[in-house]
Amino acid sequence: MSRISDHEKKKVFFYADEDAKYYDLAEELTQPCMDLIHDTMVDLVEYSLTWKSEQDLRRPFYVLNVASGTGAEAFRLLERFDDIHVFAADFNPPMNKEFRRKFNERYPECDFASCVTLIEDDFFGEACAPDELISLLPEDLDPQAFDAVIAGFFLHHYPVEVKREFYRRAHAVLRPGGVLVLGEAISFESQRLSEFAHNFGYRWIEKQFSEPDQHLRSKYDALGSDAERLRQKWIDHWQNTHIYAPDVTVMGDQPTGGRETKPSHASMALEAGFQKIGFPFRLWEAAILWGEK
Ligand SMILES: C[S@@+](CC[C@H](N)C(=O)[O-])C[C@H]1O[C@@H](n2cnc3c(N)ncnc32)[C@H](O)[C@@H]1O
Repeated sequence: MSRISDHEKKKVFFYADEDAKYYDLAEELTQPCMDLIHDTMVDLVEYSLTWKSEQDLRRPFYVLNVASGTGAEAFRLLERFDDIHVFAADFNPPMNKEFRRKFNERYPECDFASCVTLIEDDFFGEACAPDELISLLPEDLDPQAFDAVIAGFFLHHYPVEVKREFYRRAHAVLRPGGVLVLGEAISFESQRLSEFAHNFGYRWIEKQFSEPDQHLRSKYDALGSDAERLRQKWIDHWQNTHIYAPDVTVMGDQPTGGRETKPSHASMALEAGFQKIGFPFRLWEAAILWGEK
């Protein structure tokens, strides 16, 4: 059963339609340091995959990429490792189509299915139940489980029980010692700080759509008249859907539980069985959570 109605899905994942082709640029324009964040997420996966001695490492590595979108995490993983297979789950066909298009452009000699198993389905549905995902791995794999789970920026619009389910599923599919690396939009316990972070985001989007960072300039110019349409879509999302203090989506970032505090990501991850939780990156709403099984 899906955890999100079609109406809500369209509203929240508003970029995953005919504009999926612009998603990468829109993400870079609207979210500060997105490249650095994705690079850091993959650095953390790499660190955890290779901290054992060379002879203890099993190969290839099997990584589950939840909410793979247009491939931000998957391409970095494929570029970093020769011996990896990525299982990518995303329920939006236009995003998956863009992921495949980019793959074919980058690796014209390679067969997509030999590097990536794409699961076009809801991560909270039957097709991505832990047993189903594990059954996709080779039968003789010991233990039959993923080495890492990586997920980026998809969870913040879901209610708490779905977030909990994410941590439960991620934990259930990992091998002992495997890691979860989650990039997410995380709010603050302080309403004032949340408000500041939200306004920072708003100003950032407005600035980037008038004076984009130098390295994005040529891509931005190529948008032509679509730039203004995209700006309006993102501002509308930011101001009306991505709200900083609604009771359904805001997350506390500390496991303290004040009056208006929702369970923190750290507490939900611990509850699911992860140990040694850490937040190695944080910039306003953007954060990376690290958890070891
Ligand atoms: C903001 S995009 C992020 C994509 C990519 N991780 C990145 O950082 O560029 C969120 C993605 O999550 C996907 N998504 C959201 N909820 C999902 C779910 N329940 N199951 C599968 N995919 C989901 C959306 O389709 C969208 O492609």
